[in-house]
Amino acid sequence: MKIAILTSGGDSAGMNAVVRSVVKAAILKGCETWIVREGYEGLVRGNTEYYETISHSDSGIIPPDPKEIAPAHYKLSEDDPYLIQNLRFGDGSLLKDGIGDYAEGRTLKGRYIIRVGWDDVRGWFTEGGTLIGTARSAAFRTHEGRLQAAYNLLKEGIDALVVCGGDGSLTGADVFRAEWPTLVKELESQGRISSSGGSTHLRIVGLVGSIDNDMSMTDLTIGAPTALHRICEAIDNINSTAFSHSRAFVLEVMGRHCGWLALLAGVSGGADFIFIPESPPEGNPWEDAMCETIKRHRMIGKRTTIVIVAEGAHDVNLEPIRVEHVKSILTDRLGLDTRVTTLGHTQRGGRPCAFDRILPTLQGVEAVNALLESTPDTPSYMIGIQENKITRVPLMEAVAMTKAVSEAIAQKDFNKAMSLRDPEFIE
Ligand code: F6P
Repeated sequence: MKIAILTSGGDSAGMNAVVRSVVKAAILKGCETWIVREGYEGLVRGNTEYYETISHSDSGIIPPDPKEIAPAHYKLSEDDPYLIQNLRFGDGSLLKDGIGDYAEGRTLKGRYIIRVGWDDVRGWFTEGGTLIGTARSAAFRTHEGRLQAAYNLLKEGIDALVVCGGDGSLTGADVFRAEWPTLVKELESQGRISSSGGSTHLRIVGLVGSIDNDMSMTDLTIGAPTALHRICEAIDNINSTAFSHSRAFVLEVMGRHCGWLALLAGVSGGADFIFIPESPPEGNPWEDAMCETIKRHRMIGKRTTIVIVAEGAHDVNLEPIRVEHVKSILTDRLGLDTRVTTLGHTQRGGRPCAFDRILPTLQGVEAVNALLESTPDTPSYMIGIQENKITRVPLMEAVAMTKAVSEAIAQKDFNKAMSLRDPEFIE
């Protein structure tokens, strides 16, 4: 079997460990392994055996079939989002064969789907981000784009795909799989592949790479433990300076619509007050309740105040909680010398913690097993972890449950949102 792997959506620590694990596990099981650079965009662009024309303005184009066009030369702009620099493959071959020749005004050879071996991914589990790149692909959202992507895979004889990303990226994989038989027929009728040249079953499996830990049916997503660790360290740092000046700090943390990072960071960093989307602040108005709590903490001798605001936090009427508003309340009502810190992408980047190396390693092996056992009748699987065991769950069930949380919040049914996030939640 030929297996390709891509990373998609926002990066997260541990994605390189996924690639390494899938490549090594697949080779051990006798498979051929390929990486797809730049997420779904790379799938659409594929390998063009001619000098391709890409520029900042027209990035997102679907490369035409090389057989159908004459070689074209082209000037590459420096800020091309699909440029790969510093890609460290053992023997440097990818850098040379790929898009390495990127200086302004030179031509380049477009290679996005590349065969890799054991040594190519050596040591990758210690690296942050994703070395094979990730990109948003407008082209893959179109039928034409997916047709081209199917062609690019079939050209290499690949019919198994591992996708590591968030719920949107994994849904894209499921759509691709469902459409695959139609795409194969279409390519056959266009004469682009020979009849019966393409497998009518695309094997796919998803691994969840996201710092937000917002996917249902898994206890943890890859990258969330590292991000939590970063926030916890940041709170420790802030706490020491807050203590010196007896100050208050309002920290905004990432997580999109999920409060996991904020909640767990608050518990591990000793926050006084935490705002998360799934459970808006109680009290009418909530500002009174927050001041009451913080005043009590100060009266029993605390010199520091830490308030954590998840970026998606809102009140019961779904009005966003703004860090600047929280700051002004603490300053004006409690007289606290208050500062705001937004941690931003420091939470997302950097080397993975130990667990974000172990989890992807175990899940990568399971992903390869799932591909090998996949039949047209088995659902697309997502590899998760539940109660410390690596699991295989139907991908679209997990996506539907994840969406249900957002719907419950939109309907202001916060207890439902909490119990969907945590089945053992008690009102
Ligand atoms: O989903 C991961 C995440 O880091 C969120 O926590 C955050 O809202 C978003 O991505 C930031 O996206 P970008 O890097 O595109 O600004």
